[in-house]
Amino acid sequence: MAAPVVYLDHAASTPLRPEAAEAMIEVLGSDYGNPSGAHRLARASRRLIDDARDTLAAGLGCSPGEIVFCAGGTEADNLAVFGVAAATGGTVVCSAVEHHAVLHPVEHMGGRIVAVDRLGRLDLEALADALDETVCLVSVMLANNETGVVQPLEEIAALMAELAPRAVLHTDAVQAFPWLDVASMAVPAQLISVAAHKFGGPKGVGALAVRAGTPLEPQVLGGGQERGLRSGTHNTPGIVAMGVAAGATVAERPATVERVGALRDRLADGIHAAVPDVVETGVDTPGQHRVGAQGGHCVGRPEAGRVDRSGKVAGSAHLCFPGVESEALLFVLEQSGIMASAASSCASGAQDPSHVLAAMGYDRALAGSSLRLSLGHASTDADVDHALAVVPDAVAHLRAAGS
Ligand SMILES: Cc1ncc(COP(=O)(O)O)c(C=O)c1O
Repeated sequence: MAAPVVYLDHAASTPLRPEAAEAMIEVLGSDYGNPSGAHRLARASRRLIDDARDTLAAGLGCSPGEIVFCAGGTEADNLAVFGVAAATGGTVVCSAVEHHAVLHPVEHMGGRIVAVDRLGRLDLEALADALDETVCLVSVMLANNETGVVQPLEEIAALMAELAPRAVLHTDAVQAFPWLDVASMAVPAQLISVAAHKFGGPKGVGALAVRAGTPLEPQVLGGGQERGLRSGTHNTPGIVAMGVAAGATVAERPATVERVGALRDRLADGIHAAVPDVVETGVDTPGQHRVGAQGGHCVGRPEAGRVDRSGKVAGSAHLCFPGVESEALLFVLEQSGIMASAASSCASGAQDPSHVLAAMGYDRALAGSSLRLSLGHASTDADVDHALAVVPDAVAHLRAAGS
């Protein structure tokens, strides 16, 4: 009999919230009018979309008229980078740890990539060097999809005001929305990306918040929906479900962060206690001894409760196990019912070396030993119990076998 599924891959995608699924099914059945039309059924669909717009706008701290619905986080990020570059003709800049949905468009435009420190936080001196009068856009994610590390948007915006006054700040809040009060933390950003499937909504739907006055050229032309910024018939069921999921996420967020943060700490502390020489990414643990070339990372066995994870989102436990290969570990974990990943999920499913860990100074071997256990609104105590029963043994077994 197959082992029960313990899902620890919420950073890749979350289970659909039941209330979002219900709303979606209802719309699929009865609200089939085209929201751009004029008759009664069309107007009913448009009202549903406007309700979702209101809910999402409240969650992002913008006005409903600033929301641009689109087909997910990747499209929102592409629209931000290409759209501002097309509108201004300036230079685009991003951090070295951005999701490929930002990094590849910035590289495509010949933009500048800014280094991070060993904890994965943007190097503000390197940012200052990258800024000048030609810069039109700086894109820095609010929380990282591999490490969960949160970036200091206020400080970034302050530097931009001084050194690149015409640049707009874009933040990819795709991973942040389940955990952080994006409405207040993204105030310095003119553009904010989100994707529904990271917070209990369906895949293939997302939004870019575009504050009034932000220069942005549409990248998808056609019927002129979304104030001309994103043409195409609205995905009414997806947008409605995203609105429901966003409302539930925001309402439950403080309780979820507290509950899941405690689960994550128990999981990560338990692994530290049971496994020698664990390197936990994105955290500083004074007093721990250090790994030569990777200096400064947490290794050894810190006391439970001593690791400061306040710079990361509550659902993220990202650990490296020197001497173990991620792919082998993931295979063994899956045999025991644990669904996890090493770095971000990519199209091929292959474990490419992580550009995020490389930017943080991890060598290839250490980066290749990473495990991302990401919890979410659906995670339980039993999930953590199961992971703690399986992960230490799996690591010990692979180390003994030479991975
Ligand atoms: C930080 C971040 N940005 C963008 C995306 C892309 O979003 P989507 O899967 O909706 O295209 C992801 C998905 O993993 C992500 O984690």
